[in-house]
Amino acid sequence: MPSHDLDAPSSHTQPVRAIVLAAGKGTRMKSGLPKVLHPLRGLPLIEHALRAAIRATGQKPIVIVGHDSAAVQAAIGDRADFVLQAEQLGTGHAVMMAEAAMRDDPSAHVIVTAADMPLVRPETLQSLVDECKQHGAALSLLSVVVNDPRGFGRVARDASGNVTAIVEQVACTPEQLKITELNGAIYCIDAAWLWDALRRIKPNPRKGEYFLTDLVEIAVADGRTARAIVAGDIDECIGINTRVDLADADAALRRRINRAHMLNGVSIVDPAATYIDLDVTIGEDTVILPNTHVLGRSRIGANSAIGPNSLLRNATIGAGCEIRQSVIEDARVDDGADVGPFSHLRSGAHVCAGAHVGNFGEIKKSTLGPNSKMGHFSYLGDATVGENVNIGAGAITCNYDGVRKNPTTIGDGAFIGSDTLLVAPVEIGANATTGAGAVVTKNVPPDTVAVGLPARVIRRKGQNKP
Ligand code: UD1
Ligand code: CA
Repeated sequence: MPSHDLDAPSSHTQPVRAIVLAAGKGTRMKSGLPKVLHPLRGLPLIEHALRAAIRATGQKPIVIVGHDSAAVQAAIGDRADFVLQAEQLGTGHAVMMAEAAMRDDPSAHVIVTAADMPLVRPETLQSLVDECKQHGAALSLLSVVVNDPRGFGRVARDASGNVTAIVEQVACTPEQLKITELNGAIYCIDAAWLWDALRRIKPNPRKGEYFLTDLVEIAVADGRTARAIVAGDIDECIGINTRVDLADADAALRRRINRAHMLNGVSIVDPAATYIDLDVTIGEDTVILPNTHVLGRSRIGANSAIGPNSLLRNATIGAGCEIRQSVIEDARVDDGADVGPFSHLRSGAHVCAGAHVGNFGEIKKSTLGPNSKMGHFSYLGDATVGENVNIGAGAITCNYDGVRKNPTTIGDGAFIGSDTLLVAPVEIGANATTGAGAVVTKNVPPDTVAVGLPARVIRRKGQNKP
């Protein structure tokens, strides 16, 4: 993400710890993959909530895992402490599981977030902490005011604006169903009050689950205050229950990412048709043309033009490059080089500065040296090409003999004639030339011309006879 969208670490003097709920199966996703591992803009869903929690608190969050806990833990590694909720008995029960892990924790407040709420900003978590502190409240929660209830719990308030209850949709009276303020399910809770209050949650009569939302009524019964702050950006409260929600979140996050790049000096011609992952970086004055996907850990320098209709995944593109209608995956293009239309750079391809890959080129695990040109219908695999080389139309490295991948080396200044087949392993010396249609099975020395099938040297350059 561009730097201006990064959030400063917590300015709170008292420590705050975050608990991220991630134990649920995500039944409504209808998927073999745990819900919290579904990808969103290049990162597993849970990663978004985790980053926000870390930025807001400056501490390792506690993640409550349950369904497919091994896979979830593997995705996060050591950036969180894990607590197992073996049986998923509800959001209230999930938080209870963290009590032992937090026994000696000095935090005065606990933030509870859900792994299925990926768009919550760290600043929003911080403002929940501020709200809770300011009012000496038992808890504060994030709400959202929208006309589409999305099956969320309704937030009931009294005349003074304090929250009196969260009512789940199924339990709502007809009057309560009309409430447009919904529970975003992100909370800041007074740590000194939390653990005892959790023990007083009764299983929900309908579902038998322990609802975290019941904490509000427990606070009121204790004579404590519950507060809510309304999300200024309704996108923050997009919760992922189904794949429909996931698509909504993707669209919202794309808008956010694209906007940040544009404010950082990147031109995006049609943001609605531009798909940039969260961790991508793009330099100033680069233009992204429509229907372009820039994915994974791709990096693009300044003054480049990318697209239209291109896909970059973990690509490193320099400054002043042009990539048109092409696919670049796990590959690198240096300053001033251009690719496309309709070319494919695969894993380990390196197009050096000023080089040119025209149409229908494919490069895998190969270097195309500085200012070298490969204009038309060519394949380079396991090849090292020097500088100022011309790869003629249709020239191909035959790198695979059916068993092994073999290397091809082409020296500086070589001229590979159209339709040359370079049967690897093979070396073409510097400034050598191959004739059109040559099938090169043996090394060609520098400064010679080789032609035919199999290719043979017919003369040294600068001489008329061999
Ligand atoms: C919850 C809220 C609802 C709110 C909505 C917003 C409750 C009772 N309801 O409903 O008021 O409007 O979020 O998105 O809290 N989880 C566990 N263990 C469990 C159950 C759930 O870790 O035993 C985790 C899930 O993995 C998920 C999160 O808690 O990340 C929320 O659970 P979910 O079942 O999706 O709650 P909602 O029905 O969406
Ligand atoms: Ca949910």
